[in-house]
Amino acid sequence: MNNRRKFLRNSLSAGIALNFPTMIFGQGSDGIVTPVDTLRRIAFGSCCKSWKPQNIWSSIADTNPDLFLFLGDTVYTDDDDVKKHGAIAALAKQYRKLSRVKEFRQFRKQVPIHATWDDHDYGIRESGADFAEKELSRKLFLDFWGAQADDLRRTQLGGIYTSYEYGSLAKRAQIILLDTRFGRSPLLTTSQEEDKQGRQSGFGPYRPNADPKARILDDVQWQWLEKQLSRPARFRIISSSVPFSAGFRGWESWANFPLEKQRFINIIKKTKAEGVIFLSGDIHYGELSCERQNVPYPLWDLTSSGLTHYWPSPGPNSNRVVPNTINEINFGLIHLLWDLEDPVVVLEIRNKKGDLKLQQSVRLGSLRVS
Ligand SMILES: [Fe+2]
Repeated sequence: MNNRRKFLRNSLSAGIALNFPTMIFGQGSDGIVTPVDTLRRIAFGSCCKSWKPQNIWSSIADTNPDLFLFLGDTVYTDDDDVKKHGAIAALAKQYRKLSRVKEFRQFRKQVPIHATWDDHDYGIRESGADFAEKELSRKLFLDFWGAQADDLRRTQLGGIYTSYEYGSLAKRAQIILLDTRFGRSPLLTTSQEEDKQGRQSGFGPYRPNADPKARILDDVQWQWLEKQLSRPARFRIISSSVPFSAGFRGWESWANFPLEKQRFINIIKKTKAEGVIFLSGDIHYGELSCERQNVPYPLWDLTSSGLTHYWPSPGPNSNRVVPNTINEINFGLIHLLWDLEDPVVVLEIRNKKGDLKLQQSVRLGSLRVS
């Protein structure tokens, strides 16, 4: 075992007091630099039903990642449980079930995890700021992931967003986890007739909301994000539960809030934040998108979903880069090749056996505001 792996394992054992060895590195919300080795391999995924087979976890561990990013839908509630006992009791039951899943327990002992939520683990399907029990849900989520009692995410305005930084300045990687639920405005739906027509072409029931007051992130989170993007880093992962760069498709994504999406792009321009790559989940298939309109540089978005289930009929996405989608259970993997003259990030989607299904290399030098 090399020194880096030894360090990780020692850190893991130090974290056992938290019940599960998560949140080993970094400090919530302030982007405090942590004295760990350079990040070289990051796995991620989303959408996990506790009652489905969980054999994907060993395949992810076999890739030997430094970190795993859980991009939401950690658990799904049972409709009958919600009706009988309410959303919070139903969520608590599912967290208990997942924490007993042997493969998942083993994975948590092997790999540090940073997590954000999406709708199913936040509360109710496709819910946002108006979910009445979001404070109770926040506590459940953070308890499940072993957050400390004084973790800022327990009390800060705007939700559970946070960030971490790794490595020396020359190889600095920043991991930003957004909260796309806590402050999100209601979704706008199409008319019944439009919905019927749209579904025939694979579109969903939602339409873009051009109201300048409509939000995905509330203003507190936006201010925090701008500060984060102003910090020095050569590579930045923006973890958004729902896709950022995908073209409009009528299901949940940043495309439903075009002014919010443009606001994000404008902040990248303003802060001159280099090295941004988006990671996302939620959609129950894997794909790679790239936004090239009104951007300072191409904004790649690798979407991986789900860990235990998938959707066989992907919808349209005008920004899809690789024509095929990954219509099977999958996870994402990022390799950071720091030692090249112009460092490269390799984006991958792998299936539950670990077989490579999609791969794209991006030079860090191509992710700079000129
Ligand atoms: Fe979701």
